[in-house]
Amino acid sequence: MSKKLLMLCALCVFAVSALFAGCGGQEQAKGSEDGEKVLRVGVNADFAPFEFQDENGSSEYQGFDMDLIRAVAKEMGYTADIQNINFDGLIPAMESGNIDIIASGMTINDTRKQQVDFSDPYYTSGLTIVVPVDNQDIKGFADLKGKRIAVQIGTTSMAEAQKIEGAEVKALNSSADTFMELKAGNVDAVINDLPVNDYFIKKTGATDVKRLEERLTSEEYGFAMKKGNTELVQKVNDALKTLKENGEYDKIYEKWFGTKPGK
Ligand code: ARG
Repeated sequence: MSKKLLMLCALCVFAVSALFAGCGGQEQAKGSEDGEKVLRVGVNADFAPFEFQDENGSSEYQGFDMDLIRAVAKEMGYTADIQNINFDGLIPAMESGNIDIIASGMTINDTRKQQVDFSDPYYTSGLTIVVPVDNQDIKGFADLKGKRIAVQIGTTSMAEAQKIEGAEVKALNSSADTFMELKAGNVDAVINDLPVNDYFIKKTGATDVKRLEERLTSEEYGFAMKKGNTELVQKVNDALKTLKENGEYDKIYEKWFGTKPGK
């Protein structure tokens, strides 16, 4: 082979590999340059104890969903690459191909099933109300008529609040914002997922607010994937099943909720 030809070949190889390296980030659940398989996970990391960071946002993503999705990815032979996105931006981010899976306490429901495919359910939740501790007239969902209610944008809480007659619904970016609005007296109540309400009160030691007993809806969380990505759904379900069988799921559950599942 002539020297010139050799040079040309080397140049081609270089150009092609550079092209692939550039595309890597956009590919679906494929490998990074060193052959490691990466699962791009979208989360809204303001939903403790499911997904959150330290107050200053410096820590690694932590929470039940984070441990579980890392374990699922590992089981599948992938590494989870976690990206923090607004909750209402998660499905669009997946539709535009920026993430492969959503692990964000996302409730499985018919509306979303038209846009995404869900894994098997991995957690049972429901909605509850938080009100100022001295509030006497809001005892349950029926008392929210005409009240000012804070919810996180794009959530099932928002959908439920919007059904309440005469309610003034404030849709905010994060659950932390909804609690802040309540504490500031700008709303009468917050609707949010039960474990998130409870964790907030316990973690911050808040004595100025209380969580009401009534639970509206029973919701199940699932990992969401792009519609039609049956191969990934199958892999995730297989991994979930293995983790449930080998006790890893129970371990993660106990770490975050202090009890065994179903207790
Ligand atoms: N379970 C509710 C829903 O699916 C709320 C989820 C909010 N998750 C979050 N990471 N902020 O609408």
